[in-house]
Amino acid sequence: MGKLLFNIKELLQVDNMGLSCKKGKDMGNLEKIKDAFLLVKDGKIIDFGSMKNLENSPFEDEIMMEIDCSGRVVLPAYCDSHTHIVYPGSREKEFVDKIKGLSYEEIARKGGGILNSAKLLHETTEEELYEQALERIFEVIKTGTGAIEIKSGYGLNTEDEIKMLRVVKRLKETAPMTIKSTFLGAHAIPLKFKSRKNEYVDLVVNEMLPKVAEEGLADYIDVFCDKGFFSVEDTERILKAGSKYGLRGKIHANELDYSGGIQVGVKHDALSVDHLEYVGDDEISHLKSSRTMPTVLPGAAFFLNLPLSPVRKMIEAGLPVALASDFNPGSSPSGNMNFIISLACIKYKMLPEEAINATTLNSAYAMGVEGKLGTITKGKQANLLVTKQIPGYEYIPYMFGSNLIDTVLLNGEIQ
Ligand code: NIG
Ligand code: FE
Repeated sequence: MGKLLFNIKELLQVDNMGLSCKKGKDMGNLEKIKDAFLLVKDGKIIDFGSMKNLENSPFEDEIMMEIDCSGRVVLPAYCDSHTHIVYPGSREKEFVDKIKGLSYEEIARKGGGILNSAKLLHETTEEELYEQALERIFEVIKTGTGAIEIKSGYGLNTEDEIKMLRVVKRLKETAPMTIKSTFLGAHAIPLKFKSRKNEYVDLVVNEMLPKVAEEGLADYIDVFCDKGFFSVEDTERILKAGSKYGLRGKIHANELDYSGGIQVGVKHDALSVDHLEYVGDDEISHLKSSRTMPTVLPGAAFFLNLPLSPVRKMIEAGLPVALASDFNPGSSPSGNMNFIISLACIKYKMLPEEAINATTLNSAYAMGVEGKLGTITKGKQANLLVTKQIPGYEYIPYMFGSNLIDTVLLNGEIQ
């Protein structure tokens, strides 16, 4: 059934060239058509253009449903390339501890943080985990997300890591959005292995990874390469092992210090390096000679009061930047990409055009789906968001905290 979106005030992120990402100055370019139409059929974008050309569309006869977009902005649904939405319960008690003065690392050292979620995950059934995650998926669809990457990493033993990834697999089969899965066995060092970190890395490499690969449960592999967690050497071992199974890296890097995570990620051709609060000239020059997507997670920096990633410096150096939510119970309990865009503009001085590029095309690249999502391009999946009536797209970051999304279409279906 063909659907026509008509009288669109501004159709954003139009691309007829098949771009894979936008870098540097180009990040400020956002192609748009004013007073536009867009046609969707069989889940795909089949035509779009200026309203005055609608009658010339070869598909005009196939329209079965019309959606009036007068006064509304239409853009590709967001791609959220870094989340941990399969998690049990919540961690608001730690949130209060943080208000009282404890740092993220201090909480982690006391056995809280990720280990807290791991303990609860162990006690939670696969079914219950699935239900909780599905609820979060429907929540983020409402705020305009059409694709997400989901990591394991609250299992921290073979059985529970597999349990998490099976939940992700089931979500892939049942949830209406595009999902990619990432194996993050090296998310934290379980208490049992506290002074035997190498043995834990052995377990990740020799036991968990082969099982994950055998069941085809992961698209990517991740390591928390940072102060107090895993070293460059650990990361290198895990990335090398992952590459034997065809898994590219998506690394947690340089959130807490200059960890070397960016350099090791680039060395092993990671698809993305994420967080990036600590980025200097050496990190930038490594990224410049790579195809690794620097991904900034403003929600975590906001929630933990971390120093801000030098996004302007990266863009001015000609790099691409992607943005993601990091939705997780410890450092970013929100998957609202509109808020991420607001933070990017307000705190990181990204222009609205740059922030939209970073949450659509560039974040699609960071999860390996740029060929089918992230832009308004004929043949791409019709994952679209329609705003309420607003003055223009700059209004999205400006009205932080408001829900400006009216309708979300995923694979051409209204959600
Ligand atoms: O991306 N930095 C490491 N991991 C997560 C936090 C997970 C948690 O605290 O539960 C993150 O911020
Ligand atoms: Fe994360």
